[in-house]
Amino acid sequence: MVGGGRNAFIGAVHRIAANMDGLIELVCGAFSSNPDNARQSGKDLFLPPDRTYLSFEEMIEKESRLPATQRMDFVVIVTPNHAHFAPAMLALEKGFHVVIEKPMTFSLKEALALKKKVQETGLLLCLTHTYAGYPLVKQARQMVKEGAFGKIRKIYVEYPQGWLSRLSEKDGSKQAEWRTDPSRSGKAGAMGDIGTHAAHLAEYISGLQIKQLCADLSIMVEGRALDDDGNVLLRFDNGATGTLTASQVAAGEENALKIRVYGEKGGLEWAQMEPNTLLVKWLDQPTQIFRAGQPYLSSFAKHNTRTPGGHPEGYLEAFGNLYRNFALTLSAKLEGRTPTPEESDFPSIEEGVRGMAFIDNVIRSNESLEKWTFFEIEGEGSC
Ligand SMILES: NC(=O)c1ccc[n+]([C@@H]2O[C@H](COP(=O)([O-])OP(=O)(O)OC[C@H]3O[C@@H](n4cnc5c(N)ncnc54)[C@H](O)[C@@H]3O)[C@@H](O)[C@H]2O)c1
Repeated sequence: MVGGGRNAFIGAVHRIAANMDGLIELVCGAFSSNPDNARQSGKDLFLPPDRTYLSFEEMIEKESRLPATQRMDFVVIVTPNHAHFAPAMLALEKGFHVVIEKPMTFSLKEALALKKKVQETGLLLCLTHTYAGYPLVKQARQMVKEGAFGKIRKIYVEYPQGWLSRLSEKDGSKQAEWRTDPSRSGKAGAMGDIGTHAAHLAEYISGLQIKQLCADLSIMVEGRALDDDGNVLLRFDNGATGTLTASQVAAGEENALKIRVYGEKGGLEWAQMEPNTLLVKWLDQPTQIFRAGQPYLSSFAKHNTRTPGGHPEGYLEAFGNLYRNFALTLSAKLEGRTPTPEESDFPSIEEGVRGMAFIDNVIRSNESLEKWTFFEIEGEGSC
């Protein structure tokens, strides 16, 4: 693990998720750029001192020199955004698979360089868009894919949070500090941090791709350097339209990600804070309530569920599903077996590039006076 030292947020979540199914063991780490924190974190996690490293360079170099049966199999990157690319690239260069946090890199250029390296090496990369790990999100995607709703026409995705309603970056919040600093977060604030989750969820469930967008970003808290609120109009590649909002100044909101998708015959509604319920709506029939853990769900939903209906699973299990699918795909690769479609269903390098392109296109659109900005991926053209 790179990052995720004492007092860090998501590193601990990754460790719980990776441990959940007994498929993965933490064997070493470079947990912090602060040497004391790095050492203490290794101790907290019962790692031997010789596998608690003070930098990712040292970790990757020394691990690559260990015998194949002893060295780490993959690297998990849970540092702030500006510190994703260097460890990811070095890990791939030294032959290690990668699990990496979103947004995948600091810039689109870095994302494209990683894509090239992943293609050259054939190594696996898992991008932890957590919300793609929920069983009822899998169910929603499957129903759209099977044509239950007909052609998709409309997508609403909203991601309001309230935790940046004050200037917390000046009050000692480490998470707020780097997220609002363009030199560590990247070009975007809220749009990069949570807008990318929303864009990914919309494309993942609908199976469509954003083709054009019109973005309006704001800084609502005086003294902040990056957007903390934004609205985006969307046009998808099949002609569907949509809206995406991401705000971290929706005072009082926790993590209220919600998506609604509508086709010709009906639609669906899923909310992250009630993740075990999927509302399925029909043009000429009453709304159905689908529940996690039930036998009528798709193989993808079942594969990503651990307990019978009525035993709530949530955020940690969704994260665990990304890890389990990644580990099963990796095992299949090592055994020379083709993973099942359920096993290989986790976000990867393409989604990482699209996330970084989303940020670039949103920023370009916000700065432009043209109504529509074509969704372009530098060097790859528009979709
Ligand atoms: N998937 C999700 O739902 C989700 C949720 C939260 C955060 N994230 C992402 O996870 C990443 C980390 O976010 P966080 O909130 O945990 O941040 P954080 O500030 O809580 O933790 C970052 C950790 O990285 C360490 N670090 C920084 N530079 C380092 C370096 N060069 N080498 C080793 N360690 C280093 C810090 O010491 C700290 O331990 C970000 O990219 C963020 O966008 C994703």
